[in-house]
Amino acid sequence: MSNRFAVILAAGQGTRMKSNLYKVLHPVCGKPMVEHVVDNISKLQVNEIVTVVGFGAEIVRQHLGGKSSFVIQEEQLGTAHAVMQAKEALGDQKGTTLVICGDTPLITSETMSALIKQHEETGAKATILTAIAENPNGYGRIIRNSDGAVERIIEHKDANEEELCIHEINAGTYCFDNETLFEALENVTNENTQGEYYLPDVIAILTAKNELVTAFQTDDFEETLGVNDRVALSEAERIMRKRINEGHMRNGVTLIDPANTYIDQDVMIGQDTVIFPGSCISGKTMIGEGCEIGPNTEISNCEISHNTKICQSAVYDSVIGANVKIGPFAHIRPETTIDDEAKIGNFVEIKKSKFGKGSKASHLSYIGDADIGKDVNIGCGSITVNYDGQNKHLTKIEDSVFVGCNSNLVAPVTIQKGSYIAAGSTITDDVPKDALAIARARQVNKENYAKKLNSTN
Ligand code: UD1
Ligand code: MG
Repeated sequence: MSNRFAVILAAGQGTRMKSNLYKVLHPVCGKPMVEHVVDNISKLQVNEIVTVVGFGAEIVRQHLGGKSSFVIQEEQLGTAHAVMQAKEALGDQKGTTLVICGDTPLITSETMSALIKQHEETGAKATILTAIAENPNGYGRIIRNSDGAVERIIEHKDANEEELCIHEINAGTYCFDNETLFEALENVTNENTQGEYYLPDVIAILTAKNELVTAFQTDDFEETLGVNDRVALSEAERIMRKRINEGHMRNGVTLIDPANTYIDQDVMIGQDTVIFPGSCISGKTMIGEGCEIGPNTEISNCEISHNTKICQSAVYDSVIGANVKIGPFAHIRPETTIDDEAKIGNFVEIKKSKFGKGSKASHLSYIGDADIGKDVNIGCGSITVNYDGQNKHLTKIEDSVFVGCNSNLVAPVTIQKGSYIAAGSTITDDVPKDALAIARARQVNKENYAKKLNSTN
């Protein structure tokens, strides 16, 4: 196998997006467009990936980290000029170079691989990925000669009426013989409507020299969608979402309404889990088998074990055990661990806490910075008072504690094993093992006093 390289074009400003965010960083199913491209290329055997970045370069580097090397295109003078920036890095190498746009996130590694295979098998100097578009507006068109061989590519803005009727489009992905590519780039000019150096012009330069240029036509136009504006972005999101959801369904996950279920690309879900409509599952989330998620549930960066039910709730950056019940209307905030068989009911908020096995907070509680043991019962309306206005403090509740309704546990405080807090208490001191703590004013009943008040009114 010969050397293989990849150049990702990602320096364009993306004016048509009308955004402060760098175009190729707009996420599709939770991942920046350009990262989809890099991740797909990474599945192929390539020696080096070079990403051309410009405006906003630093933030692209931060996103892609060590997955690619980078070259800077100071001024965005066109796609050919962008590839030229990789000359120093790759120009003197022998091999095949895949050039791909950072705004085509749907092109799969299978298609890239098939393109490379055809390119290497035919010995062509260039192979273009093309597709038939029902509406080819905005794309470069493939011009073929009377024998059907590729002759050149004409950009939409430079095309005449006849050329505009062509439905075969340039996907912006190509394979080149590396040395031929960098040699031909020297001859690209900017004499066109946009005054840009067009990479597609390399094709006409090669065919004029009688070099072999072929096209690899995919039958799936959707894959080649280039995201230039927010309309195309939503279209890419829809297509990617469908792909992801179908993948989960094929793996044994039930999605009640796939068109209304939003799952990021890196999410993993076990067999026989059922996802109800309106659920958004994002980031690096892992969900076990036999769970029920939703409806209307948001889960981000969580690890959730088997047979857990989460209904109409929001759960972020947390670890949830098996056979847990959460919701409806619970809010689990970052750095929380909920052990097996726990129950978190309606209007309960938990933050940065450990909630032990079999423990329950069934209604209307706030638990923050707490370490809660096993089989604890947090009564309705009870809260940890974790913040003194300056610092956060720990509430420690040991195994089998019963916290009566409407209690305030003023941290730092420890409630020892097996103890019992009377309803309505404000606990400021530690409670010893197996003790009953009552911290509230005593009740006074004034006989007939209400009647007296009523009679004076
Ligand atoms: C480009 C192709 C068009 C093809 C379409 C497929 C050219 C001239 N046209 O058009 O034939 O049908 O993609 O989606 O190549 N970029 C740079 N530096 C620049 C300009 C662009 O890095 O100076 C990058 C952009 O970030 C983008 C990619 O190159 O990721 C393509 O640029 P874009 O402006 O989107 O080109 P299209 O008009 O979509
Ligand atoms: Mg584009």
